[in-house]
Amino acid sequence: MALYTDTVMDHFMHPRNVGEIKDPSGVGEVGNAKCGDIMKMYLDIENNVIKDVKFETFGCGSAIASSSMATEMIKGKTVEEALAITNKDVVDALGGLPAHKLHCSVLAEEAIKSAVKDYYDRSGIPYDHSQFPD
Ligand code: FES
Ligand code: FES
Repeated sequence: MALYTDTVMDHFMHPRNVGEIKDPSGVGEVGNAKCGDIMKMYLDIENNVIKDVKFETFGCGSAIASSSMATEMIKGKTVEEALAITNKDVVDALGGLPAHKLHCSVLAEEAIKSAVKDYYDRSGIPYDHSQFPD
């Protein structure tokens, strides 16, 4: 069996929504200390809906594929819907990841949460801090 699904390869070779949003509603930056990979996610939010999302990932192919898929999954969704997305949802959408690459998808989930948290902070929206990592 191939290590990576066609969907993973497609998102790795042709990642969607790569780049940066100038003047974003929220930005999240997360990293994995073990592998050193870094993921940055920018959100443009209007009326609680994610109008646009872009990412920059300095990391492995699985991290790029996971961020690409995650951006597609949250575009057009409400902030709450985006927060509900787990790394397992991202992995499922990718058709699976090898076990030792699952943490790459965790980075994608954390990047979304971190960007939403930044959006809440910037807009003065109160939130439950226990909802977010660190
Ligand atoms: Fe090589 Fe993540 S371990 S890029
Ligand atoms: Fe660390 Fe992929 S190897 S994010």
